[in-house]
Amino acid sequence: MTHFLDIHKTDPGDLHAIIDQAQAMKTARKGQPKGMPDADMPLAGQMVALIFEKPSTRTRVSFDVGVRQMGGQTMVLSGADMQLGHGETIADTARVLSRYVDLIMMRTFEEDTLLEMAEYATVPVINGLTNRTHPCQIMADIMTFEEHRGPIKGKKVVWSGDGNNVFASFAHAAKQFDFDLVFTGPEPLDPESSLAGLYTTVRDPHEAVQGADLVVTDTWVSMHDPQSARERRHNQLRGYQVNEALMADAKDDALFMHCLPAHRDDEATSSVMDGPHSVIFDEAENRLHAQKAIMRYCLGV
Ligand code: CP
Ligand code: NVA
Repeated sequence: MTHFLDIHKTDPGDLHAIIDQAQAMKTARKGQPKGMPDADMPLAGQMVALIFEKPSTRTRVSFDVGVRQMGGQTMVLSGADMQLGHGETIADTARVLSRYVDLIMMRTFEEDTLLEMAEYATVPVINGLTNRTHPCQIMADIMTFEEHRGPIKGKKVVWSGDGNNVFASFAHAAKQFDFDLVFTGPEPLDPESSLAGLYTTVRDPHEAVQGADLVVTDTWVSMHDPQSARERRHNQLRGYQVNEALMADAKDDALFMHCLPAHRDDEATSSVMDGPHSVIFDEAENRLHAQKAIMRYCLGV
């Protein structure tokens, strides 16, 4: 069974192959209408369940479109509408769904929910974001970096802001793809301790971004964070906003990324998001291509 649960759980050779296939599939369908199926229809006859226990725009639409482009069919399920949200166990849900569908993508809160789904499912399970990680996003980000700048190996990536789930997947990727990752953010919002050794910390953001090939940030309040923490987090993170002054201290040709959704002029200014360094909409597009390759990898097609 080939799940895609986290970047550090997948072999680096397989990760590179996924990115290469994503790029080849993107190139192959350039200029085609988005609803046109891929020539080889690798998911023909396959049924994919997309389960969301949290809101989503990109993940929902890109997985749905990706499956359809590959000739498969989807059903988008809200956790709250399933018996899962009303007391049925994850293990039973996993075993039942496995009788109906060929692949499960899940966005949930606790990582344990995803892991239990993967343990009991008899079909592959893909992580569509948990409170701890967001591996599909970072596969799209690596693809985007390499599309613009070539291999990410040996490059300097700087994360400015909250040490959250998206950062965690960047940290896993730093090891697998062999790039240098620097975290700059306030100590109370440091990444979880299990990631120690995968990145270095530089508290001063202007010092941190010196020589950066890529500057990344994300929302200051994630979906799983309590709204009551909003004001405190904003106060802690204000100094880590990615603005033109910060980008000016990175390399001249540094890229800027944000997984979106963004809160414009909080974690990043509109001038950076819409400016010459930004590749945020390429990132969003590449979710589609990267996830198509991830699904093919999981299904072995
Ligand atoms: N970046 C991302 O996962 O976006 P959604 O929450 O819209 O899926
Ligand atoms: N860190 C954000 C990412 C959203 C795609 C969250 O978990 O809400």
